[in-house]
Amino acid sequence: MNRMIIKNGFVVKDDAVIKGNIYIKDGMVLREAEDFDADEVIDAEGLYVFDGFVDMHVHLREPGFEYKEDILSGTKAAVKGGFTSVCCMPNTNPVCDNPSVITYIKEKAMAADNCRVYPIGAITKGQKGAEITEMFKLKRAGAVALSDDGLPVLNGNIMRLAMEYAKTADILLICHEEDKEIAADGVVNEGYNATIAGLRGISRVAEEAMIARDILLSSALDARVHIAHISTKGSVELIRQAKRLGVKVTCETCPHYFSANDSLILSFDTNTKVNPPLRTEADRLAIIDGIKDGTIDVVATDHAPHHTNDKFVEYNYAANGISGLETAFALANTYLVKSRAIDYPRLNRLMSVNPKKILGISGGEKERYADFTIVDTEKKYRIDAKKFVSKGKNTPFNGLEVQGSVEYTVVGGKIKYKNDNK
Ligand code: DOR
Ligand code: ZN
Repeated sequence: MNRMIIKNGFVVKDDAVIKGNIYIKDGMVLREAEDFDADEVIDAEGLYVFDGFVDMHVHLREPGFEYKEDILSGTKAAVKGGFTSVCCMPNTNPVCDNPSVITYIKEKAMAADNCRVYPIGAITKGQKGAEITEMFKLKRAGAVALSDDGLPVLNGNIMRLAMEYAKTADILLICHEEDKEIAADGVVNEGYNATIAGLRGISRVAEEAMIARDILLSSALDARVHIAHISTKGSVELIRQAKRLGVKVTCETCPHYFSANDSLILSFDTNTKVNPPLRTEADRLAIIDGIKDGTIDVVATDHAPHHTNDKFVEYNYAANGISGLETAFALANTYLVKSRAIDYPRLNRLMSVNPKKILGISGGEKERYADFTIVDTEKKYRIDAKKFVSKGKNTPFNGLEVQGSVEYTVVGGKIKYKNDNK
């Protein structure tokens, strides 16, 4: 028996913030207050209580790339960042394209005992883009979605087939949109800053052309599709139009696309290298508009931890990716809420309600998991990558002053993270 009360917090609901208490019994939220002796009381006076954040796009790197991250370090970083659930991408070694890798991840996550971990299986075998995986088997083993993330499904006919099968299997497809031919050998966003830096550019059309293709396929087949990490103004516009036309498309963006632009590459810091690349200020503002009007459903981190050996090389050779779990809330709070673009209920939808809905992992209204993220929305501090518990210290935001800290992360009625740095 485990009873907890979260007391006097500003509880963030779907469309309001209400001061009150939350009563938890055996890992579930009680609908009404019960008069009980709690084993544990969290004093949330002055703090905001969100539904546990759900990150539908992380790279935990295990199996195969444990020198970058593993399930234990990655889930520790997740709870430190306020995430009570994460979905991990299949670009591991071996690729998560069969039930045994799914089972392996689930067992490791269970042993780590930090947050809930939902594996994402591959769309194609070995992520080679040639032959679709056995989707029903992957779903039965516990995959919550399918993606070839890290790589696009370049062949349109394979994507068409994948959408048809995924529709029948009722499993979500998450698309990494990048026309490799158009992207060619670019390493940063094509434009003014790329020219100044003398680095090869990636056209925005590389992303937008693939999004357009998948919107058309989704529309033709009446199949659901979720677009990963959108970064351009054109992508927002394509998805806005598609939603208006009733296409079953949802999408996510990442904190770095609304917090930074490609002027950061002028430092030649390889921690600014990410795929898709940081875009222009006009793109950044368009992403925020897309968040404001609901075109963008989800904020996901695309947590992509890398070893310094993969980053401490010339820009052209550096690995793509940003370690994002431990900075996501602060960046969202600073660049979306404190800048007055959105309010806390909207942030709760972007970081918890919507990803759960899209993935179908909500648990239902009656039996709600007691997953909560309790934050101090006012605290100001500088991001310090050295303090990351993730093995990946690769962030372009090191030293940046931000506002908002995660104070407690509660998973299934248990405190999995408490901020002791008062
Ligand atoms: O920057 C990225 N890093 N983008 C991706 O799509 C993959 C990811 C990774 O796995 O490192
Ligand atoms: Zn990706």
